[in-house]
Amino acid sequence: GAPVELDISKLELGQQVTTEWRGKPVWVVKRTPEMLANLPKLDGKLTDPTSAASEQPEYCNNANRSIKPEIWVALGVCTHLGCSPTFRPDLAPADLGPEWLGGFYCPCHGSKFDLAGRVYSGVPAPKNLVIPPHKYITEARLLIG
Ligand code: FES
Repeated sequence: GAPVELDISKLELGQQVTTEWRGKPVWVVKRTPEMLANLPKLDGKLTDPTSAASEQPEYCNNANRSIKPEIWVALGVCTHLGCSPTFRPDLAPADLGPEWLGGFYCPCHGSKFDLAGRVYSGVPAPKNLVIPPHKYITEARLLIG
């Protein structure tokens, strides 16, 4: 499939937008400083905290799994059986528990991912969410694919 261009100039802090590439949902999330600060706190609860066994381009092989720290791009496809997880940025919601620091919840079999798409331990999904190839054409325009 052809690359997909996305204008992210209107994306607000804490917001997620979804586009589509190769028939799959692609998420872009603009993470707040608080969201970024919470990521390292979760390392001990994750299956692959450094993403060593997960799929991302070389330029996203870092703690935030992104080019710019705040802007995060990922395939919205659960690495278990391919459902699309739900964006749950809320802190400590009743259904996800007091330790939930925001992330993605897969309604199909309960897999949980943090706001870098890193999978929690003890859920069916084996790997972190996939980061597709992408780049910035300008400050406000992303090219996915
Ligand atoms: Fe997401 Fe099974 S498809 S937990």
